[in-house]
Amino acid sequence: MYNTNNKILKWYHLNKRDLPWRQTSDPYKIWLSEVMLQQTQVETVIPYYEKWLNKYPTVQSVALENIDNLLKIWEGLGYYSRCRNFHKATQDIMHNYHGVIPNQIELFKRLMGVGDYIAGAVMSIAFNQTHIALDGNHRRVVARVLGIKNQTHQNLKRIKTYLKKLVWEGNPGDINQALMDMGSTICRPSNVACDNCPFHLSCKAFQSGIPTAYPQKVAKKEIPTKKMVAALVFHEDTILISKRPLNGLLGGLWELPNIEIVNGEKPEELIETTLEDQYGFHINVGDKLGAINHTFTHFKMKVSLYNCKIKNDPLSRDKAKWVAFSDINQYAFSKANHKLFQLVELRND
Ligand code: ADE
Repeated sequence: MYNTNNKILKWYHLNKRDLPWRQTSDPYKIWLSEVMLQQTQVETVIPYYEKWLNKYPTVQSVALENIDNLLKIWEGLGYYSRCRNFHKATQDIMHNYHGVIPNQIELFKRLMGVGDYIAGAVMSIAFNQTHIALDGNHRRVVARVLGIKNQTHQNLKRIKTYLKKLVWEGNPGDINQALMDMGSTICRPSNVACDNCPFHLSCKAFQSGIPTAYPQKVAKKEIPTKKMVAALVFHEDTILISKRPLNGLLGGLWELPNIEIVNGEKPEELIETTLEDQYGFHINVGDKLGAINHTFTHFKMKVSLYNCKIKNDPLSRDKAKWVAFSDINQYAFSKANHKLFQLVELRND
């Protein structure tokens, strides 16, 4: 095992990717990077990471900021609960840990949004503690080394045991990051480069001649498609936007009013009745501006956008927010909403 640990570290020394969060030992910056990197590719994260740190260089600066402004920086990165949880966790640190990130894994894991993976990654990289950071890359690399095909509970235990031994041999932070890099650059899901792998001849999957058959792919479940309508409601030069509740999907982001079609309702009627219920004003639904598709982890949606006009005076209705189309960039919207805005821009070109 020691030999293996050494080989991995050598490989890492020669091949490691030059990434901004590798030029620091500040646990705040390393934690931020791991939060952003969960579910998101390195290339996508880099500009967000740099922009965030320019504005918020410390835990305290995040804790003192308004969630709307944080979500604006996070806009487009997706999985917005990561941002809301990170914000709450920094406030927890200011209130309960004198502004210092706890370096005991059990305390760190009590913070919002910190699970086994983030905790293991931050504690090993920032504090050189011997914890594993089991992500998809680690699972795939070790499954191949051990020749594991089936993704069973027992096999997951074997993978964890193997990783624990590896990190115990020294430099846990580098070992964890080396395995991340191996998984992203050579031991990829379908395009492998075994010649440049420190495990090479000892890897069971390599020996089999078909390394990509390990571990066996689990068939992806079909995800449902929701049909939705969205309303571009004009009042003079402004449009109606609303904020999603803080808890739940896209929580705290702004959006055009939208409704799911569940019983085959007519889009025009659905928009009219829902907006009347929610805001109390009457609208005329005009022509359809187009439709967009968007995929989330658990469902897809097709959203048709309708041009609408207010019939009565809406300004007495304080639930609604009216903004000039040219000012929408001051608010954080989801990617799907930006696709809807593109439909409008295409029309106005
Ligand atoms: N993916 C998740 N964490 C990472 C890290 N620290 N370096 C590279 N890729 C990662």
